Amino acid sequence: MSRLEDYLEAIYHLIDEKGYASTVAIAENLHVKPPTVSSMLQRLASKEYLVHERYRGIRLTEKGAKIAKSVIARHSMVSELLTMLGVDEEVAYQDTEGIEHHIQPITIKRIEGLVDYLRENPKVLRAIREHIEK
Ligand code: FE2
Repeated sequence: MSRLEDYLEAIYHLIDEKGYASTVAIAENLHVKPPTVSSMLQRLASKEYLVHERYRGIRLTEKGAKIAKSVIARHSMVSELLTMLGVDEEVAYQDTEGIEHHIQPITIKRIEGLVDYLRENPKVLRAIREHIEK
C-alpha cells in the first residue's frame, strides 16, 4: 500500500502545482526510473485509482484523489509535529515520508490534538523544546 500511496500523493501534488503529472516528473519525485512509473501507472489504472489516457495525461479518480488527500493530511500533521519539536526540515520531510504510511487514523487524530494544543500554548512548547534540546 505504501508505494501506491506515494504515487497517488506525488501525482496529486504535481497536478495541483503544474496542472498535469508527467511520467518523468513522477519518476523524479519518487526517485525511480520512468519505466517503473509506467508499470505502476498501469497498476493504479487497473485498480481504478487513476485514468491514464494518451495525450490527455493522468487524472486521479475520486477513489484515487480520496486516498491522496488523506495521505497529504497525514503528512502535514506528522511533519508539523516533527518541525515543532525542532527536527530540521530535511529530516522532518524524510521521516514523515516513512511514518505517514504506518500510522493509524486514531494516532493521527491524537497528534492533531497535540499539535493544536501546542500551537495554542507556545509556552508549553517552549518548555518542551528546552527540555528535549538539552
Ligand atoms: Fe508524504
